[in-house]
Amino acid sequence: MLEIQQLGMSFGGVHALSGVSLAVEPGRIYGLIGPNGAGKSTAINAITGTIVPSAGRILWHGRDVSRWPQHRRARSGLARTFQNLALFHKLSVRENVTCGAIHAHDDAGLRAAVDAALDDFGLAEVADEPVNVLSLGTRKRVEMARATVAKPKLLLLDEPAAGLTGSEITEFSTRMREFRNRGGAVLLVEHDMSLVMSLCEHLFVLDFGKLIAAGTPIEVRANPAVQAAYFGAGDDADH
Ligand SMILES: Nc1ncnc2c1ncn2[C@@H]1O[C@H](COP(=O)(O)OP(=O)(O)OP(=O)(O)O)[C@@H](O)[C@H]1O
Ligand SMILES: [Mg+2]
Repeated sequence: MLEIQQLGMSFGGVHALSGVSLAVEPGRIYGLIGPNGAGKSTAINAITGTIVPSAGRILWHGRDVSRWPQHRRARSGLARTFQNLALFHKLSVRENVTCGAIHAHDDAGLRAAVDAALDDFGLAEVADEPVNVLSLGTRKRVEMARATVAKPKLLLLDEPAAGLTGSEITEFSTRMREFRNRGGAVLLVEHDMSLVMSLCEHLFVLDFGKLIAAGTPIEVRANPAVQAAYFGAGDDADH
């Protein structure tokens, strides 16, 4: 469904991504992991169109979307959340979630889709509250609802569990398995290794912008290059 070929991104002299190739199929949960600064957010930004990559191709259902604007990619089924939430703070929860679906529905369908997303993420009771009065966990659920309201085919999540409580993380995992079971694919960027190991079926590991390993969680955990990337230089994987 998604195929990335030799993706590269440079910021001045910093090679945030170099020669990264990977593929994503429907109905699976993937993890994209690596130490701080490895290029994980840059990869999500390039796939969803927040940035234009310096090299390589992004094939989505066989079409090269590398230069498509992000709204066009969103409309074609690529949805995301942001590492540092990107909500409209003064707008209500309902208004924020509606923003994720205006391209996908007529007026009647829009209202129904937003109500369903608010229910799915336990947001019905706060639907009319402005986002800036809510807890971090609730605001993260608003972003998840906005990202999923238009029923995307691939959901790219940048550290969705950071700052969540244990029960919120369990709830998050349940929602993601439901999404996967309905045929959706997830690419999860996350530092919480117990969450990554329990939720993801396949992992990609970045280090200094390069893909250093890919495989099942068990294969990746046993990979010496991965162990060196996380522990070799004294990095703390669970920062
Ligand atoms: N807009 C930018 N301008 C300059 N450098 C950037 C920019 N965005 C990212 N970088 C650099 O690219 C590299 C990769 O950054 P990126 O944010 O993708 O890492 P990450 O894997 O998401 O890290 P973290 O786990 O800390 O979120 C880093 O060296 C970062 O400083
Ligand atoms: Mg990041």
